[in-house]
Amino acid sequence: MAKKKSAEVSEAQIAVHWQEEELIHPSPQFVSQANMTDPGIYERFSLDNFPECFKEYADLLTWYQYWDTMLDTSDAPCWKWFVGGLINACYNCVDRHLDKYKNKAAILFVPEPEDEPHAAVTYQELYVRVNEFAALLRDFAGLEKGDRVTLHMPMVPELPVTMLACARLGVIHSEVFGGFSGQSCGERVADSGSRVLITIDAYHRNGKLIDHKVNADLAVEAARKSGQIVDKVLVWSRYPGQYHSASPPVEGRDFMINDVLADYAGARVDPVRMAAEDPLFLMYTSGTTGRPKGCQHSTGGYLAYVAGTSKYIEDIHPEDVYWCMADIGWITGHSYIVYGPLALAATTVMYEGVPTYPDAGRAWRIAERLDVNIFHTAPTTVRMLRKAGPDEPAKYDYHFKHMTTVGEPIEPEVWRWYYDVVGKGEAAIVDTWWQTETGGFLCSTLPALQPMKPGSTGPAVPGIHPVIYDENGEELGAGTGKAGNICIRNPWPGAFQTIWGDRERYVDTYYAKYCRDKDSKDWRDWPYLTGDAALLAEDGYYRILGRIDDVINVAGHRLGTKELESAALTVEEIAEAAVVPVVDEIKGRAPDMYISLKPGFEASKETETRVVKAIEEMIGKIARPKHVHVVPDMPKTRSGKIMRRVLAAISNTMDIGDVSTLANPDVVEGIRVLVQGEGKVALKKGPEDIARFGDEG
Ligand code: PRX
Repeated sequence: MAKKKSAEVSEAQIAVHWQEEELIHPSPQFVSQANMTDPGIYERFSLDNFPECFKEYADLLTWYQYWDTMLDTSDAPCWKWFVGGLINACYNCVDRHLDKYKNKAAILFVPEPEDEPHAAVTYQELYVRVNEFAALLRDFAGLEKGDRVTLHMPMVPELPVTMLACARLGVIHSEVFGGFSGQSCGERVADSGSRVLITIDAYHRNGKLIDHKVNADLAVEAARKSGQIVDKVLVWSRYPGQYHSASPPVEGRDFMINDVLADYAGARVDPVRMAAEDPLFLMYTSGTTGRPKGCQHSTGGYLAYVAGTSKYIEDIHPEDVYWCMADIGWITGHSYIVYGPLALAATTVMYEGVPTYPDAGRAWRIAERLDVNIFHTAPTTVRMLRKAGPDEPAKYDYHFKHMTTVGEPIEPEVWRWYYDVVGKGEAAIVDTWWQTETGGFLCSTLPALQPMKPGSTGPAVPGIHPVIYDENGEELGAGTGKAGNICIRNPWPGAFQTIWGDRERYVDTYYAKYCRDKDSKDWRDWPYLTGDAALLAEDGYYRILGRIDDVINVAGHRLGTKELESAALTVEEIAEAAVVPVVDEIKGRAPDMYISLKPGFEASKETETRVVKAIEEMIGKIARPKHVHVVPDMPKTRSGKIMRRVLAAISNTMDIGDVSTLANPDVVEGIRVLVQGEGKVALKKGPEDIARFGDEG
């Protein structure tokens, strides 16, 4: 049964957290050099000109053959863009820049140890490395067009080299964030049907050289249990010629890439001409059930969309030094470190490590040293840097013309520090709202055309036409002060094509709710459900309030509560587990875990430790709960459902509301005391996403 959730909130309630903010205009210096200063772009990308408007983005690319159909809706809601077109993503990101830019840096790599020199990979060097590795993938690993290969790699230049080599061959890459556990990686290997896994021996993080190859052994084993055999593990070396892992290479299965590459020195591989609609990559993300979804992104549509948005929203020119601090293991890194910037012949910076090691000045030293002028990060990092070193940016001589925030709502006071201190009052900021599924930005200001509003993502980007629906499918227009489910009316080229191997889940999750006619081939009948609640101000700027499903946005990354709960339930003594979001000063939200024990077991510190360990092993450290509360019983409805809303209210010291209709109202006070201590604490008016969390409607 579909969950019914009420997202209706009055403006007065929201104003507790969000006041109308003043508008801030970009500087004339920014505007005078911006890629997009023509307000006519909105008219060109209006619904009247849909879908032909997207030719403007596709024309930023080099095609072997133009498409004959701009948008094919015959398999609705699996939209096909640029049908008949032939293109190669690697060619567009590398080869075509050689004439003009071969000696320009494509990638600047900053290792974590500050005494290790930066590496500049020129476009020519990238071309050579990608070709040699593509030859290895084809001739040594036997990979061909349409095969899937899983990458479990950290932030090293070999990661984009691997992605581009796959793209050159038409092999579908599925990069799993390096911080995910071997077990998580193995599940994704199995789901995607990869028989090759590409990894590295080790990488630096927070002052330690982390052994990463051990995860490959766990991943191969986890995949085998799910019926997928990995026959080759290809291992890059953090330091070629050395080996920094306690796990020895497995004879006949594991191969050190640098050794094998010697056979392919000087090799050249013709880029494979791909249909625009052929998949380029998979990117897994969390949903409401425990199983992650492999979002399948296309070649032509995706690349056109990220090139267009990189040019106009990120304002990237080939002369710029652009630094997005995200990890390539997430969609932000795919779209806005690798594919978008490289399609535009930019210099893209990647760094190894964490923002605050060895100290809170590191980011600004990097910016100064490399003369970065476009900076891109998430609110969680801004909060972290603000806390650890509020005065650090002023000590360094760098100047950003443009900055991005992405991944979660940013509080206006955090936005102001970003603007005044990090951006030194000079940089235009874009607050970009989008998702793994959407490939690229959905909402943001066009930086030279519209003023910034702290805490608001801005209007929709050109060619995106959002609509906010209430539960009954009525539109909530501008200035109504009511929040609802934000949807996108129209398809766009960057949108994912389906969930890998699960079209039904794709349709159910993203289209079923507001579809007007399931047999329709008209895109107008298929609004895309983003899964976020939002409201639209009078001036056309959207405010994103957060997820409407059981997904917690931790430090800008999505974690499904079901994934955490299933991991906890693998601990023998645990009978029930429930996860709720708790407000966290740095991460925005963090998971709070409630567990109850099977009869005969006593609450102990060891149980808590085992839960944390199970989560780290099955998902990864990013999912570590903030607290583990062992409770005698869970608050439940009469039908036996755990009332997560009550637990969320307790974790966040918010009003618990009426619990008299529960099956066991008496347990609530006991849990409250356990979490908040004896005595009454002052209640907070918590944020709206938490107030609604787990609401059974
Ligand atoms: O809830 C929204 C939030 O992050 C979710 C998407 O997460 P993910 O697929 O991991 O992609 C993150 C990077 C694009 C959204 O459903 N979100 C993303 N950007 C913003 C945001 N919330 C508010 N403001 C944003 N700028």
